[in-house]
Amino acid sequence: MSRYRIAWLPGDGIGNEVMAAARLVLDQVGLEAEYLPGDIGWEFWRCEGDALPQRTLDLLQSVDAALFGAITSKPAKAAEAELNPELHGKGLVYRSPIVRMRQMLDLYVCLRPCKAYAGNPLNFREGINLVVFRENTEDLYSGVEFNPVPQELSGLLEKISPPFSAFKDLPNDEVAISCKINTKKGSAAIVRAAFDFARKDKRKKVTIVHKANVVRATDGLFLDEAAAVAREYPDIPMDSANVDAICMWLLKNPDNYDVLVAPNLYGDIISDLAAQMVGGLGFGCSGNIGRKMAVFEPTHGSAPKYADQWKVNPIATILASKMMLDWLGEKEKGQRLEEAVATVIKEGRVRTYDMGGQAATMDMAEAIGEKLSVLS
Ligand code: NAI
Ligand code: MG
Repeated sequence: MSRYRIAWLPGDGIGNEVMAAARLVLDQVGLEAEYLPGDIGWEFWRCEGDALPQRTLDLLQSVDAALFGAITSKPAKAAEAELNPELHGKGLVYRSPIVRMRQMLDLYVCLRPCKAYAGNPLNFREGINLVVFRENTEDLYSGVEFNPVPQELSGLLEKISPPFSAFKDLPNDEVAISCKINTKKGSAAIVRAAFDFARKDKRKKVTIVHKANVVRATDGLFLDEAAAVAREYPDIPMDSANVDAICMWLLKNPDNYDVLVAPNLYGDIISDLAAQMVGGLGFGCSGNIGRKMAVFEPTHGSAPKYADQWKVNPIATILASKMMLDWLGEKEKGQRLEEAVATVIKEGRVRTYDMGGQAATMDMAEAIGEKLSVLS
């Protein structure tokens, strides 16, 4: 019997291609697993009105971990227009299946390591080894949004919040409101995850990213909680920085940073920045991690421009598989897989288009697979 049950969610566009590459290396590394395919993505929105059908959520609740490719998302109006005509007028509203998956399974940690592998021609600078911890279920992604703004809400805001007077005379459909909701519990949990990691991985510092001087209520709460959690880890140095400033400082002095922890939106932004510093979307991997279950994915999207061309870089998804191996406790396999990736990058013989080469997606997977067979 297989040791692990893994949900297998290719999704849309290049999702299928990068997942095929990941499967090749997972088989080569010798993971004993049963891979259970799950439905997610645009096709299921169009045909069923749900990009994350209940059967997929049920599947996710029954497995040890999941690997996910990418999905296509479109703004509300475009999403409605593409819905199967039979489903029109039923009040169906498109919401990102990834955001829902994170919230419904309480995958509260988004872990995004960004390491510059030696020899990658896309490295912004050699030696970068950053890890971003992004809160994954709250903040501006909580899904509490209004456009147009209902009368009851604008009436209430006008009464209780003086700054709302600047907007009160505008027609309701000319104002939109997205709520940034942060809790003490959610903030403490992500900061604790970052400090636990820093201690275990012998990291030199944790940096709290925020904008508490302007976004006082929510980021103020995040920063206060972060400071309280940091006191439980006196052995680990911490500092804090505004999100705008950190974008500048990361580029100027990447070596001054190590582990970064942020609320959802800032974490999303700085992790893309950090990923670009180590090769861009072809290298950015991430884990959505909960208490019992985790979903690993490349950070890139479905790249429709490249779909079905089998030319995109699968390394992001292969590194996401490595994270999955680590999380499952298969450290030796994870280490071997990373070594194989690092060797292929260093040798520079097989490079996909983003790295300036002409190798196809599966050429890269096969090259990594070959290294694995030598390393095993
Ligand atoms: P994208 O990440 O899909 O692609 C942007 C560009 O990055 C591509 O055109 C390509 O030049 C490059 N790129 C992406 N993956 C690459 C890879 N593996 N190798 C080499 N180059 C790669 O972002 P875009 O075009 O803004 O969004 C496309 C769709 O994906 C949209 O519907 C968007 O909503 C969705 N999306 C989904 C995400 C997810 O599934 N987690 C994340 C981001 C976007
Ligand atoms: Mg992103």
